[in-house]
Amino acid sequence: MKIGIVGLGYVGLPLAVAFAEAGHEVVGIDTDSRKLAGLGEGRSHIEDVPDAVLAPLRERLRPSGAYEDLAACEAVVICVPTPLTGSREPDLTYLTDAGTALAKVLRAGQLVVLESTTYPGTTRERLAPILEESGLAAGGDFHLAFSPERIDPGRTDYTIRTTPKLVGGLTEACSERARALYAEICDEVVVLSTPESAELAKLLENIFRSVNIAFVNELAQLCDRLEIDVWEVVDAAATKPFGFMRFDPGPGMGGHCLPIDPFYLAFKARERGFYPEFIELAGKINQAQPTFCVDRIERALNNAGRPVKGSKVLLLGVSYKAGVGDTRESPALRIARLLRELGGEILYHDPYVPELPELGLSSADLQPALAECDLAAIVTAHPSLDYAEVAANAPLVVDFRGVTRGINAKNLVRL
Ligand SMILES: NC(=O)c1ccc[n+]([C@@H]2O[C@H](COP(=O)([O-])OP(=O)(O)OC[C@H]3O[C@@H](n4cnc5c(N)ncnc54)[C@H](O)[C@@H]3O)[C@@H](O)[C@H]2O)c1
Repeated sequence: MKIGIVGLGYVGLPLAVAFAEAGHEVVGIDTDSRKLAGLGEGRSHIEDVPDAVLAPLRERLRPSGAYEDLAACEAVVICVPTPLTGSREPDLTYLTDAGTALAKVLRAGQLVVLESTTYPGTTRERLAPILEESGLAAGGDFHLAFSPERIDPGRTDYTIRTTPKLVGGLTEACSERARALYAEICDEVVVLSTPESAELAKLLENIFRSVNIAFVNELAQLCDRLEIDVWEVVDAAATKPFGFMRFDPGPGMGGHCLPIDPFYLAFKARERGFYPEFIELAGKINQAQPTFCVDRIERALNNAGRPVKGSKVLLLGVSYKAGVGDTRESPALRIARLLRELGGEILYHDPYVPELPELGLSSADLQPALAECDLAAIVTAHPSLDYAEVAANAPLVVDFRGVTRGINAKNLVRL
C-alpha cells in the first residue's frame, strides 16, 4: 500500500516507521521544515525512533512538506497536535488546517483516519465537513474513521504491534477499511460501532489515569500530615493480586495527554449542560501538586536553616516522565517558576533535555551541580541517574518519585 501520515511527531513518526517496516510505501507530511530536513538526512527527532531504525527505511519512508504527495495514497492517517487554547478549551486549529489542506488533494476511494486525541464527535462533526469541501461525500466517496493512538513514549514492553488498536468508522465499510489498514501493523484490531465510541474510549483511558494519579497524589498530601510513608502504603496495597491497580504519587502530571485530554471531554460535556465532577476534581488536585512539592522543598530548606530566597535548587529531571526528553506541561517547569518567584536560584540536570528555553537554562553537569546546590529535588526519575550518588553528594535531597527508597540518609526527604 501507499500510506500517508500527516504530522511526524511522537505519534506519527513511529506509525510511519511501523508501516514502512511492514513493507508499505509511506509519505510523511509535516509543516515543520526542520523536522523534515532532519528526517531527510536520516536524523530522528523522537527518542523511540533511533536513527538506525530510519536508515534501512530510506527507500520506503519519504518525508515531505507537500500535501499533493497524499493524492497517490490509499490511506491517510492524521496525527497532528490537539492542544488547548489559552482559556483551556480544545484547540482544533492544527486539525482543521490539516483537514483543509487534505481536502484539496482528496480523491475518491481513499481512507482517512484521525488518530489525534479529541472529544467525541470531532471526526463526524468537525473533520468530515472539512474533507467534504473536496466535493466528495464522507462514508460514501471516501472512507473516514477514528483510531486513537495508544503510544506510551519510552515504553518497550508494549509496541504498536502488540497493543490492541481501536477503530470506529463512519460506516461499516469505513471500519472495515480501517481494520484492514491497521491489521498490517497490529496483531489485534478492535472494531467499535462509531467514531464517537473510539474517541471516548481514548479519553476514558487517559482520564482513568488522571483520576487515579490525583487520588494517590492527594493521599501523599494526607500522608505528609499523618507522618506516614506513602510509598510504603502504596507498595503494601499493591501486593493485593486483585481489585487494586498501582498508581504512584509524584510532582504532578505532565505531557501532551493527561493534563489536556480531560478538558476535551469536559468541554463536550458542558456543551450538553453536563458538569463532570471527577474530571474537574482530578485536574484541580494534579495542578496543585507542584505547589505542594514547592512547600516540601521550602520546609526541607527551612529545617536546614535556609530560606528559599538565595538558595540554589537543583532539579534532577525536567521532562514530564522518565526516559524521554518531552517537557510539555512538565510539573518541573511549574516547580521552577514557583521557586523563582520565591527568590530561589534554579539549575537543572537532565540527560534528555540539554536546553530549557522556557527557563533560559542549559542542563548542568551533575557532579559540580550536586556540589554547588543547596538542595537537589528529584522531579523526574531518569533511569540513568545513580540516586545513591545523588544522596551522597548533595547537601539536601527531596525525592518526589520514591526512587531513594532503600537509601537511608539524614539529608533525604521523600514525598
Ligand atoms: N505523545 C503521546 O504520547 C501521545 C499518545 C497518544 C495520543 N497522542 C495524541 O496524538 C496527537 C499528536 O501528538 P504528538 O505527541 O505526536 O504531537 P507532536 O507535536 O509530537 O507531533 C505533531 C506533528 O504534527 C505536525 N503538524 C502540525 N500541524 C500540521 C499540519 N497542519 N500538517 C502537517 N503536520 C502538522 C507538527 O509539526 C508535529 O511534527 C495529539 O492529539 C495527541 O494528544 C499523543
